[in-house]
Amino acid sequence: MAEPKLVLALPKGRVMDDSLRAFGRAGLRLAPPESERAMRYDAGDAMVTLMRNADVPTYVELGVADAGVVGKDVLLETGARVYEPADLGFAACRLSLVRPRGATGTVERVATKYPRLATEYLRRIGSSAEVVKLTGNVELACLTGLADAVVDVVQTGETLRANGLEEVDVILRSSARFVVNRAALKLRGDVLRPLIAALRDLPGAR
Ligand code: PRP
Repeated sequence: MAEPKLVLALPKGRVMDDSLRAFGRAGLRLAPPESERAMRYDAGDAMVTLMRNADVPTYVELGVADAGVVGKDVLLETGARVYEPADLGFAACRLSLVRPRGATGTVERVATKYPRLATEYLRRIGSSAEVVKLTGNVELACLTGLADAVVDVVQTGETLRANGLEEVDVILRSSARFVVNRAALKLRGDVLRPLIAALRDLPGAR
C-alpha cells in the first residue's frame, strides 16, 4: 500500500510563496493553491495546510502536519517542541525593542505580539517594565501612549521611519525555518531526510 502523502503546514502569504519555491528547488513538486481561500489541498507531492504563522508550530508539534515552515521568532515565542533541521534563509527580520525617536527615560510598559520573548528580554536587561499583549499593528501602542516601547518585528525599517519610531535594541535575528514533527522524522524519514538535506543545500539556506 502506498504511504500517505506528507502533510505540510505553511503560513499564508509571502512565506507560502517562498516556501513552495524552496520545496520545488529541493525536488518536491508542489502546486500553489487554486483559491486564496484554500485551507487544505493536495499539492502533488504533499498535502498542504495553510494557516496563520503563529499556528504552524502547534500543527507540527501535535503531528497533524509532518513538517512546516515558520519564522524563528514565532517558533521561539510558542516554545513548541519540534525539530528545526534547516534555516531556509528567507523572511529575514529582527525582533527589536522600539521606542519613539529620541525617547529617553525608563521604559515602563511594553506592547508586543511576543510576550514570552519580550518578558525574557526585559528580565535579561534588568527591566521591570510591564508587558502588554497585542495581536497586530503593535507600533500603534507607542504612538497612542498605550505603551512607551514595543517589541516587534523590523524588516525594512519602513514602518518605524514612517511613524517616528526607532530601533533601540535588537533582541534576536529571525528567518524562516523548516520544522519537523519528532515522530514523523522517524516514521517518514525516507521522505523527510533527503528533503532536509536538499533544503539545507539551497542558496541562502543552512
Ligand atoms: C510586521 C511588523 C511591523 C512590520 C515591519 O507587521 O509587525 O509592523 O511588519 O516591517 P518593515 O520594517 O519592513 O516596515 P505585519 O505586516 O506582519 O503585520 P502585523 O503587525 O499585523 O503582524
